[in-house]
Amino acid sequence: MKLTGIDPRLVVVTGAGSGIGRATARRFARGGAKVIVSDIDKDAALATVALIQSRGGRAVAAQLDVTDPHAWAEFARDVHADHGVPDILVNNAGILVSGAFLDLEPEDWERQLSVNLLGVVYGCRAFGRLMIDEGKRGHIVNIASAAAFTPTPVMAAYSVSKAGVKMLTECLRLELAPKGVGVSAICPGVINTRIGEHAVAVGVDPVLVERGKQLTAQVQQFAERLPFSPMSPDLVARAVVRAVRYDLAVVPVRAEAWLGYVMLRVAPGVNRRMTQPLSMERIQALGEFALGRAGGSR
Ligand code: NAI
Repeated sequence: MKLTGIDPRLVVVTGAGSGIGRATARRFARGGAKVIVSDIDKDAALATVALIQSRGGRAVAAQLDVTDPHAWAEFARDVHADHGVPDILVNNAGILVSGAFLDLEPEDWERQLSVNLLGVVYGCRAFGRLMIDEGKRGHIVNIASAAAFTPTPVMAAYSVSKAGVKMLTECLRLELAPKGVGVSAICPGVINTRIGEHAVAVGVDPVLVERGKQLTAQVQQFAERLPFSPMSPDLVARAVVRAVRYDLAVVPVRAEAWLGYVMLRVAPGVNRRMTQPLSMERIQALGEFALGRAGGSR
């Protein structure tokens, strides 16, 4: 594999107040980069900055809602004026809206696609233009998901958003490479972050959703204290660094992501049916059973 030679000195990460974005910001900062830690939640961004600075790293917090194209334009202008042209943009911010297709309202689709897909489009537009106008050799990394190539019957909107991010990445690779900007898509499997806590589960009993969020928060806090976790967000952060170093197109992370990626090629029919046993009814029934509410009153 050929090295791109891009030296990550200035790195912008969206959704860096938590999970994969935070791990990515920390990893680049450990490598010596100054990181612009952006998130819609300013306090969360500040907490990431504090973590980086406590280890001697350099980071600055910024509030950015990735769904707002005007905010992106202003953000790119501010970053340029205050810090220069970034070497790397990581479009990481994302949310999960799950639910049976017929339960999803138009606003559920709009919410899902505006953050996960349009947020990435606007980021590529604002910083791609800046890198190219300023003649900078740079790299854009988009966090997609294994859901981009493994269909499920419980989160069509999320899967569509991530398949869109993967395709956008592959189109932009062709378009931007001659201008000196590389573009990569990272496709993680299940990673231990706060995505479950932040998720919207349409059509599921809200009591169950709340209890499920509390449980996932507990599991997440426990896993954070372990020296190594097989579902650590740092696995994705390492994949991001690798993608920049070698200009990789699509990078699956974890076994289930590789399984989907390979099955899509060698046995697409099997790949399409792998998650068929899943349904929102089954997930809800399993949740009720786990919480001892099977047959209970509502
Ligand atoms: P997380 O919930 O821990 O972190 C997401 C961050 O994005 C939060 O800090 C949140 O405040 C921020 N955010 C949400 N909406 C935003 C907006 N409109 N503008 C700016 N920031 C916003 O979740 P996680 O897991 O770290 O997610 C990061 C990315 O990784 C997402 O794109 C997600 O779809 C993707 N991913 C996650 C997987 C997982 O199993 N956790 C698997 C595959 C992909």
